[in-house]
Amino acid sequence: MQVRSGLLRNQGQKIVFVPTMGDLHEGHLSLMRKGREQGDCLVVSIFVNPTQFAPGEDLDTYPRNLDRDLDLSKKEGVDIVFAPSENDLYPEGFQTYIELEKLPKHLCGISRPTFFRGVATVVTKLFNIVRPHVAIFGQKDYQQLTVIRRLVRDLNLAVEIVGGPIVREPDGLAMSSRNKYLTSGQRAYALSLYQSLVKAQALLKSGTREASKIIGNVSGLFLSQPETTIDYIAVCDPETLDDMEVIDRPALMALAVKVGSTRLIDNMILSP
Ligand code: PAJ
Repeated sequence: MQVRSGLLRNQGQKIVFVPTMGDLHEGHLSLMRKGREQGDCLVVSIFVNPTQFAPGEDLDTYPRNLDRDLDLSKKEGVDIVFAPSENDLYPEGFQTYIELEKLPKHLCGISRPTFFRGVATVVTKLFNIVRPHVAIFGQKDYQQLTVIRRLVRDLNLAVEIVGGPIVREPDGLAMSSRNKYLTSGQRAYALSLYQSLVKAQALLKSGTREASKIIGNVSGLFLSQPETTIDYIAVCDPETLDDMEVIDRPALMALAVKVGSTRLIDNMILSP
């Protein structure tokens, strides 16, 4: 892949990269479509990255569907699918990781303390292998996108990071490979994530600007629901991810909620 990227670069081709863990859905495909517009050679990686899963998380059960993913990629006009093995990326003796100091101390990083170390490490490795000019990430994983933007700036990586909007099911549930873990009852409960964001935006529009009041109010949507536990609901600065007390400028509202044993995340920028 590295050699091929070098050749493409020498031919003056602009390489656009969409990293994924596979089990592709419309969210991933939207990033590929965005990618198609941004350059000449569209590369997609499919790799379920073990270093971003903690012991006890769903690494073993994470949905894997390579044949279907290859078909979908072909239909989207992807030029190269890079699907390395675990041994390709983490051969015996591997011991170098990339860690950010502050951003992972917020939101998902609190309950998943090694997650962003795994993401930053694998994404840096993938960038070095694929050597893209542009890489596209979804706003669905807002903190991940923020971490990658910071990583690229801090380490002077020569890649432009582009964000793509969240793709939702018709009823509002953010698309995710993990949605297929949900039973039909849990699927209905899962809708509360989106509903809570919409409610938060409505509260803000009607004059409630204190983050604590908004968070308190929308928490009620989950507390009465069976099989549902809140990991976090936060209102924070969209760049630093530091908590905001009063929403006097655009703020990120982000939440993680467990429905059954499935952890779901969603977010929205709230604008006063
Ligand atoms: P994965 O969860 O497969 O997601 C791959 C990309 O698709 C990410 O940039 C993610 O934000 C985006 N995405 C997922 N659901 C989306 C949705 N509903 N709307 C828009 N974009 C969506 O994120 C990862 O993989 C991994 O952490 C990875 C970056 C590949 C590193 O291992």
